Amino acid sequence: MCGIVGYIGNKNAAPVLIRALKKLEYRGYDSAGIAVYTGEDILVKKAKGALKNLAERITGEIIPYKPADKEFDACELSLFDKTGDFVKGTLGIGHTRWATHGEPSDTNSHPHSSTDGTISIVHNGIIENYAELKAKLQAEGYVFQSQTDTEVAAQLIAKAYKEEKDIFKAVLKVLHLIEGSYALGVVCKDYPDRIICARKESPLIIGLGKGENFIASDVPAILEHTRDVYYLGEKEVAVLYTDHVDMFNFEGEKVIKEAKHVEWDMDAAEKGGYPHFMIKEIHEQPKGLTDTMRPRIVKDNSGKASDVYFEENKMDEAWKNAKRVVITACGTAYHSGVVAKYAFEKIARMKVDVDVASEFRYRNPILDKDDIFIVVSQSGETADTLSALRLAKQNGLKVVAITNVVGSTVSREADDVIYTLAGPEIAVASTKAYTTQVLCMYLLAIKAGKLRGTLSDEDASKLLSELETIPAKVQEILDGKDVIQKFASTQFNKDKIFYIGRQFDSATSLESALKLKEVSYMHSEAFAAGELKHGPIALIDDKTLVVAIASEPSLYDKIGSNMVEVKARGATVLVITQDSGDAFKGKADEIFRIPECSSTLASLLTVIPAQLFAYYCSILKGIDPDKPKNLAKSVTVE
Ligand code: F6R
Repeated sequence: MCGIVGYIGNKNAAPVLIRALKKLEYRGYDSAGIAVYTGEDILVKKAKGALKNLAERITGEIIPYKPADKEFDACELSLFDKTGDFVKGTLGIGHTRWATHGEPSDTNSHPHSSTDGTISIVHNGIIENYAELKAKLQAEGYVFQSQTDTEVAAQLIAKAYKEEKDIFKAVLKVLHLIEGSYALGVVCKDYPDRIICARKESPLIIGLGKGENFIASDVPAILEHTRDVYYLGEKEVAVLYTDHVDMFNFEGEKVIKEAKHVEWDMDAAEKGGYPHFMIKEIHEQPKGLTDTMRPRIVKDNSGKASDVYFEENKMDEAWKNAKRVVITACGTAYHSGVVAKYAFEKIARMKVDVDVASEFRYRNPILDKDDIFIVVSQSGETADTLSALRLAKQNGLKVVAITNVVGSTVSREADDVIYTLAGPEIAVASTKAYTTQVLCMYLLAIKAGKLRGTLSDEDASKLLSELETIPAKVQEILDGKDVIQKFASTQFNKDKIFYIGRQFDSATSLESALKLKEVSYMHSEAFAAGELKHGPIALIDDKTLVVAIASEPSLYDKIGSNMVEVKARGATVLVITQDSGDAFKGKADEIFRIPECSSTLASLLTVIPAQLFAYYCSILKGIDPDKPKNLAKSVTVE
């Protein structure tokens, strides 16, 4: 996720900003930039890639490569400090960008400025109605440099400033025009004594120094200067001066709040207070899901969810005529494809084949030009997935990519791209990328069903409205995580863990077993529950935990029988279900209830307890879940 910083004080702002951005590197980024008021104008410097590229662009000095990390870091930091020799000014904002609208490039990097150069802004989040606002501004003659949603906000503030003749009023006005999630930092060259910032659904803190103040999206950015902070609240605006800070709500009414003292050390601060990135990212799922779905769900005049819109989509005709969907990916991304098989079949009545990319590419597969080919990849760089994509294109197929990384190779080579807006995933084990991939599959299936006439408007609307309730339900599960933690503490010494499920739940079983293997090194396998009696049941004994996933009421009896079979052979049984009655009474040792949900969409919920279970087993075994052995985050070799 993007990182925002801002400084107002009496030091040279440029090095303070770049050093602060360095402390936000852990959030992931693909480009960076700063804007500093130099006495007359706002000077903007930006560069694609690492922060040192930005520093090199400013100083003209290139850092020599030094393999020893510490030395290299010191070298980088001294270059950052030199930026103050070239960009002089004591007021500025800075940004590390994780691309969402427009590829990573110098032009798309923040800060973005109004055409007249009066306003510069940095932004973290997504302005959902930017396309509509941009079109209006273009009709009025505004010209845009970048493909970003942020530049629209910069131009809008400049326009409002011309009308209001007051920068604070102008910002307030624009906050009522833009929709979506945002943390904003704004500087105006006519007001060199202040920074304005605002937030809605994206984090923003204000660091309080002596004769200097800071804004940042996260605590690590300011820890070397101060531990006293204001946490800007939802829909609040602040105006920072060197010696004080004023805060308001979106109606312009003053807000008074108490400063907090941060006790975290740097390591804890980087993880937002969580001990590991994996658990932090598990907790980011409600937000990732909301960000991914909200811009894509179209509402009718009465506010009812009615359709799916993918701005990138160029393939409506292909979807109408397709005879089959072929899905290819690796690992966790492949499992989102297995959920999709059930989703497309059930929702859109489409035939689906799903295969792991490393198998697909050597299979001489039978492909038809009317097939739609979907590749899924968090990183967008996985070697096998890329080869599968190229094979499909050579065969004349249209390719849709679902990826989390804007500008990745997969996104560039596909005909159509759907981005998961999960934000950067740092832990090796994929969690929030997976659920947002599954969400994109549901959205695509609903879109396909509508286009092909296999899903009625009413049923589409029902599914979409239910999808909108999912993030809150994920949050509910996360709020009850103690039960899973406690259960893990009784199970982490088991020899074997088997996940079983039917239909959608068999897909979730695959992902659950992989997650557990990856981070706890426990032997775990997934079986379609009905397959147990065809062999695997021979392995069941009292050292076995069987996790049954049961989200489909019409199959409770069936999976209940499987549970009885394994319990009779000594296994401990956990069931993850939405049943609130007695369906599994006496059949399970532990019942974990998920919130009520249609079985079609329950895959977005049932996997959450399994992710938590894997995480807690990892901790209990003394393993660092963020760095499991033998695994890499991006597998760019075969
Ligand atoms: C599991 C995991 C891997 C990846 C796989 C594909 O937690 O992270 O199984 O899912 O290597 O990676 P992407 O999605 O980047 O293509």
